[in-house]
Amino acid sequence: MSRALFPGELDGVDWTGSLLDYLGGRGVRPAYSVAQISAVHLPAALAAEHGLDASLPWLLMVQVNTAAAVVPVIYSRNYHRGDRFSFDVLRRAGSSEEPPMPDPHVPDDDISRWHAAIAPELRAAFEDVLAGPRFTLGPNLRAFEAEFAAYCGSRACIGISSGTAALHLALLALGVGPGDEVITVPNTYIATAFAISYTGALPVFVDVNPVTLNMNPALAAAARTDRTKAILPVHMYGQCADIDAIRRAAPGVPVLEDAAHAHGATLGDRHAGSLGELAAFSFYPTKVLGALGDGGAITASTPEFEARVRQLRYMGQQVKFDHAILGYQERLDEMQAAFLRVKLRYLDEQVAGRRRVAARYAELLGATPLALPPADVTGRHAYYMYTVLAPERDALVAHLSKRGIDSMVIYPRLVTQAGAYATLPWRSGPIPVAESLPDRLLSLPMFAELTDEETDRVGAAITEFYGTA
Ligand SMILES: Cc1ncc(COP(=O)(O)O)c(C=O)c1O
Repeated sequence: MSRALFPGELDGVDWTGSLLDYLGGRGVRPAYSVAQISAVHLPAALAAEHGLDASLPWLLMVQVNTAAAVVPVIYSRNYHRGDRFSFDVLRRAGSSEEPPMPDPHVPDDDISRWHAAIAPELRAAFEDVLAGPRFTLGPNLRAFEAEFAAYCGSRACIGISSGTAALHLALLALGVGPGDEVITVPNTYIATAFAISYTGALPVFVDVNPVTLNMNPALAAAARTDRTKAILPVHMYGQCADIDAIRRAAPGVPVLEDAAHAHGATLGDRHAGSLGELAAFSFYPTKVLGALGDGGAITASTPEFEARVRQLRYMGQQVKFDHAILGYQERLDEMQAAFLRVKLRYLDEQVAGRRRVAARYAELLGATPLALPPADVTGRHAYYMYTVLAPERDALVAHLSKRGIDSMVIYPRLVTQAGAYATLPWRSGPIPVAESLPDRLLSLPMFAELTDEETDRVGAAITEFYGTA
C-alpha cells in the first residue's frame, strides 16, 4: 500500500529544504530517518483522513523526479524491524503513471524463502504433533536428538530450550561454579559470557586471531590458571575455532564449543558438535539450522555428560519426581523438534547454498579494500554470516542502504563493553585485535536462497563505493 500524504502539494516546487522541517509545519513528527526514507508519527486527523493507525510509525519516502522537479511525498506500509526499514511498492502521487521503481530490496536474511519451499513438510510436522498426545519429551524430540547427534558425529544430543540455556547447562555439567574461571573470547554474542556469569564463575577473555576472528590458542594457554575449569571457544560466523590447537596449547582443560553459528561447519572432516567434551547449539530461527521459535541443543561426548545434562535440563531428575540435584526446566519442545527434523534434512543443502553465495562474493569483492572472511581455514565454513572488515564502514552501510541493500553489524560492541560487565566480575588479557573489530565489522546479505542477481547487486554497490570497478 502506498499513497500520497499531501497529493499534488509539492508538485512542480523547486524544493530544496528539509522534508522533515516542512512536514513539521503540518504536525508530522519524525520517528527515525535514513537517507530519503523516514518513519514518522502522523497527527491524528491526518492519519484518520488516510485511514491509517496513528499509533504506528509510518514509512515516508520522497521520490525526486529531477527532470520535472516533482517531489511527491509518499507513505507506505512500515516494516519496522529493529531500526532498519524496507519498503513496499511505491506509486507516484497524484498520477497513474508508474515512477521508475527503486531496485528491489536485498534483505540481509530472509528465512521465509526457505520456509516457503518446505512449507508442506513443516505443516505435516505440525499436524503430526497436533494429532498426538505428546508436546514435551516425546517421539519427535527423541528422533531429532538421535538424528542431530548422528549428523554431528557426536555420542549424544540433548534438546534444550535455547542456545543460552544450552551454554549454561553445559557449563554446569562440566562442574563450573563459583571460584572457577572459564576462558572465552570477547567478540561474541553476550550469551556466551552471560552463561559463564550465571554459574558464578569468572569469564576470562582472550584475544582472537586477526584472520579467522576465532580464539587464539596460545593466548588461551597463557590465560590458564589453576582455577581454569573450562575453555569456551566460539565458532565465529560459521568457521570452526581450532579446537585441536586449543587442546594442544592447554592440555587437560575441558572444551565447550559455542556452536551457535556452526551447524554444518567442520574442523578438518569432523563436524562442529563433535570436537569438545560438550557443545552448545542455538536453533534461533535465523541460524543455519533454526526452529520456528526458540530452541537449542547440547551434544555430549560421553554417557556421563549426557546423563548429567539430561538431569539438569529436567528439574534435576533421573527418575520422575526424584529431584536429586538442582535442575532446570529447559527442554526443547516437541513441536520445535518436529520442525527441526524437517529442516535438518536440508542442512547440507543450505550450507552448500551459503557457500555458493560466499564464493560469488569472494569473486566480486576480491579487488575491494574489504578484508573478506577467509574460506575454509580450519575446515568447511558454514557461512552463518558473511562478515567482512570494512574501511569507512558506516559510510558503506549508508551507501548500501540507499541502494536498498541491508547489512548488519554483528556484534557492534565487545562483551567486555556491555553495561552488565561494568559491575559483573571478569578478567581479560590485552585484546587489541578484538578491540579493532567493532568499528570495521559488517555482515553482508547471506542466506542460501540469495540469488546471483542479488549477490551481484551487493558486489556492484560495494565496488562502486570503493571506486574499484
Ligand atoms: C555465539 C552465540 N552464542 C549463543 C547464542 C545464544 O543462543 P539463543 O539465542 O538460542 O539463546 C547465540 C545466539 O544468537 C550466539 O550467536
